[in-house]
Amino acid sequence: MKRIFLLAALVLLLQPLRADEGMWLPVLISQRIGDMQAKGFKLSAEDIYSVNQASLKDAVVLFGGGCTGEVVSDEGLLLTNHHCGYGYIQRHSSVEHDYLKDGFWAMDRKSELPNRGLTVSFLERMEDVTAEALKGYDKSMTESMRDSVVRANSARLIQNAVKEGKGLRASVEALYYGNQYFLFVYKIYRDVRLVGAPPSSIGKFGGDTDNWMWPRHTGDFSIFRIYAGKDNEPADYSEDNVPFRPRKSFKISRKGAQPGDFTFVYGCPGSTKEYVVSDDVRYVAEVSDPQKIDLRTQRLDIMKKYMAQDQAVRIQYSSKAAGVSNAWKKWQGEAKGIQKMNTVASKQAFEAKFRQWAKGTEYDGLVDKLSALYEKRNPYYHAYEIYSESIRPIELLQFAGNVRAALSAKRPIDGTVESFFKDYYQPIDEEICAAMLKAFDASMEDGFKPAYFKEKMAQYGSAEAWQKDLFSKSLFTDKAKVLALTPDDIDKVTSDPAYELSDAFNEWYIETLRPVISETGEQIRLLNRDYMRAQMEFEPNKAFYPDANLTLRVAYGHVQGYKPSDAVEYAPVSTLKGIIEKDNPDIFDYNIPQVLRDIYAEGGHENQPVCFLATNHTSGGNSGSPVINSDGNLIGINFDRVWEGTMSDIVFDPDVCRNISIDIRYLLFVVDKIGHAGYLFNEMNFAD
Ligand code: ARG
Ligand code: GLU
Repeated sequence: MKRIFLLAALVLLLQPLRADEGMWLPVLISQRIGDMQAKGFKLSAEDIYSVNQASLKDAVVLFGGGCTGEVVSDEGLLLTNHHCGYGYIQRHSSVEHDYLKDGFWAMDRKSELPNRGLTVSFLERMEDVTAEALKGYDKSMTESMRDSVVRANSARLIQNAVKEGKGLRASVEALYYGNQYFLFVYKIYRDVRLVGAPPSSIGKFGGDTDNWMWPRHTGDFSIFRIYAGKDNEPADYSEDNVPFRPRKSFKISRKGAQPGDFTFVYGCPGSTKEYVVSDDVRYVAEVSDPQKIDLRTQRLDIMKKYMAQDQAVRIQYSSKAAGVSNAWKKWQGEAKGIQKMNTVASKQAFEAKFRQWAKGTEYDGLVDKLSALYEKRNPYYHAYEIYSESIRPIELLQFAGNVRAALSAKRPIDGTVESFFKDYYQPIDEEICAAMLKAFDASMEDGFKPAYFKEKMAQYGSAEAWQKDLFSKSLFTDKAKVLALTPDDIDKVTSDPAYELSDAFNEWYIETLRPVISETGEQIRLLNRDYMRAQMEFEPNKAFYPDANLTLRVAYGHVQGYKPSDAVEYAPVSTLKGIIEKDNPDIFDYNIPQVLRDIYAEGGHENQPVCFLATNHTSGGNSGSPVINSDGNLIGINFDRVWEGTMSDIVFDPDVCRNISIDIRYLLFVVDKIGHAGYLFNEMNFAD
């Protein structure tokens, strides 16, 4: 009896404070597996992560540099999101072969399209190397000496780890702000080909209108295949490569997602900051987010205006605009969510209690030191953010910088030039340039403005006049002139007004902003190590998960809707009926392919599931992550969160934080009925 009580108490102690919050390390999942099983999961910790036997982790990849993907066949077939494959699909597209618009389906292996630069990374193993990383460190050392010790030890660990096999990459990552270090060893496959993508009217259905929102009806998937050398090891693209044979692949379940069902998302969330001081959160919600939102609104409005006028421009700017609008919308939800949760105040209340507790300990004064650092950093960081979101995105300036870099390195510039002009529409860039010069002038405190900027503004009298002169004189608007440049023409480049402008700003950033930003940033990072450890000591009964850093994580929860506001309640599953309800040939984001209308008209598809909501704690980078059920089988692909819950990168609200996934049965439906590529099912394994 006593034992049972103790056990129950222990389980309770290990619960995170709020249900379903948390992104756990797979290697330590034995600490959570009891809770997962209590909530319905039927597999063991070893099934999730093991180095000795094939486990689910062997079927999960980091896709490119910022998405997740999962292997679903013994022949390297890989699923991820449409928006993760978007850039690649776009690069294969032209007005004649518009795979973005029409979709793409390789009807045989030979037609699968190679993608230069695309890699997928399998995690071979992760390992706590805290002791090795700190070898040679003693307590008398300063934090920055400690840092150098860690860096040197890490370099050695990495060197040794990559010697273990072909195509390996290793890194040592600081977890809990450097209170622990883990070695991650990845195997990287670099021949990854496009197999299938639905038309954007399905894969991006709802577009930026529905992005980050529920009810959602996006068929956000694309299909790739990993290729390897004949030895199954990573190889550069070659016609002789063969489909990769994975150690493990996911079985697909057609049971679906019912409210309350256990869900488990296995993927690579990019970055969260759940443990920072209130000053950081206040800066994000009250300064940074609103500022960046405003600048992006201006840029987006300009892009959209021209995209609506011309089909070719729409294709050129679709990927760019989606990129700009994505974070833009997320920040809106984040700022609002932080206000609504009162996070600044609740963090302050926490800090007051913490200060009391810390009196007389090594953590005395810690929070105040952090506050002071933010106060010093913020004006500079704000200036940097204004610069990053106004002047930096001007395409002509970036192009001039890239050409200059290539010429100095004596690299050929043709590739850079071709790909720039393929997707460049000068009137958009001109209008953005004028608007951003003006916005920079208006948002930047006078004391921070670069001298160069003030001179030019005085000389021209207005942002428009400056912009007009710049574009009429710069050689970078003329493809032939740029192509004719050789490394001997560096002078022509450096005296070009576009280059000059970008260089002057860059220099200003390096000389006046960066020193303060890096110095305070470094000090904050180091103090955060203490603050993290202190929080763990202050609340010894709370289970702390490390902030996300694009390493593989487990998030578990269940299928559930939510109530976004008074008198509104969302059900967790959307269906094809909802697509037909939204369908409108006059609205680009809601104009579905005729074939989908025809299929629907046949009848019987009203209840075809499309997307579902769950309570998993996910972040950017979790796009494309496998969503699996209590049996460990694939029921969906994660692709988004609801915008009322996007503050979960900073604070998780179990009432409204929901991740959005495409129901795997909708993927099967589209592959079969729209792509007529049902032959792919032959290589998939179905669990039921
Ligand atoms: N919001 C999702 C993510 O953060 C999807 C983005 C792509 N979709 C879009 N309409 N821009 O990546
Ligand atoms: N769409 C996001 C991504 O690309 C996932 C959404 C999120 O931030 O949770 O990773």
